[in-house]
Amino acid sequence: MAGVARLRLLQLSTVLRPSLLAAHNVRCHGAASAVTARVKRHMCSAPAYKHILIEKKGEVGNVGLITLNRPKALNALCDALMQEVQQALEDFDSDPSIGAIVLTGSEKAFAAGADIKDMQNKGFIDCFGGNFLSTSWDSVSKVKKPTIAAVNGYALGGGCEVAMMCDIILAGEKAKFGQPEIIIGTIPGAGGTQRLVKAIGKSRAMQMCLTGDMITAQQANAWGLVSSVHPPDQLLDEAIRLGEKISQHSKVIVAMCKESVNNSFELPLSEGLHFEKRLFHCTFATKDRREGMTAFVEKRKPNFTDS
Ligand SMILES: *[C@@H]1O[C@H](CO)[C@@H](O)[C@H](O)[C@H]1NC(C)=O
Ligand SMILES: *[C@@H]1O[C@H](CO)[C@@H](O)[C@H](O)[C@H]1NC(C)=O
Repeated sequence: MAGVARLRLLQLSTVLRPSLLAAHNVRCHGAASAVTARVKRHMCSAPAYKHILIEKKGEVGNVGLITLNRPKALNALCDALMQEVQQALEDFDSDPSIGAIVLTGSEKAFAAGADIKDMQNKGFIDCFGGNFLSTSWDSVSKVKKPTIAAVNGYALGGGCEVAMMCDIILAGEKAKFGQPEIIIGTIPGAGGTQRLVKAIGKSRAMQMCLTGDMITAQQANAWGLVSSVHPPDQLLDEAIRLGEKISQHSKVIVAMCKESVNNSFELPLSEGLHFEKRLFHCTFATKDRREGMTAFVEKRKPNFTDS
């Protein structure tokens, strides 16, 4: 019993240190900074972000990269950070040169969770009234273009949930995934209890959510939470290459394909199959469908025009 208790304490401190660090060392400047960022953007058209970095990657710059960048807080996801993520996602989503979006953190942490300091003194009314963990968080799953999470280090709580909102997860060998909310007296609030079940099954999802235990990248791979595992220093390149590969295809068809696969989570099979069939028929209304098939028949590379 004592052994178990000690193990649990040890685990508690390892799980929580990142977010507690965030709580103690770093102040997030709340909604004001995101508003300022937005105003600045309109004034000089160069995005001024405080908690994230954005770049265009790949040989022809067709992969949008968003790097969570609150290093001292191990990328704890405060409101201001999530609002910046939403803005960056919307910008890449409407940028015709971008075909896919990669979301990453640092080698140490993808994201250590929601900001506990942000939450510590909230009451029910604050959460309910402000619809806590809603708009900007939901935006990650609303993006039309494919999103790839490149996870090195910790993806805990909100970090794990944001990774699961992405379409594809690639992991670094040292990545750790977990929903440790139970340890601090709450439950996942941004999709963890729902998306985890779909990703890894009920028994494993229950175990992770009820114990708060983390799983390794290798376990996450074996359980189907992630697509593949890579050496930490090669992970980002791998994710960008994947983004480039997707970006070669017609953007309009890619968006239809993503929407159809995404719908399989929501719809019963008969509805999902019907939705897929109609979207399949829709592809025949595009130039790119004709170009794709003509290029195949003519044994040349297709020249997609995203139309
Ligand atoms: C994906 O499905 C979810 C519901 O499961 C929905 O809220 C979201 O808007 C969808 N995203 C896209 C891009 O279709
Ligand atoms: C691809 O198609 C566009 C529009 O029809 C055309 O302007 C462009 O020259 C084509 N590119 C190649 C490489 O054939």
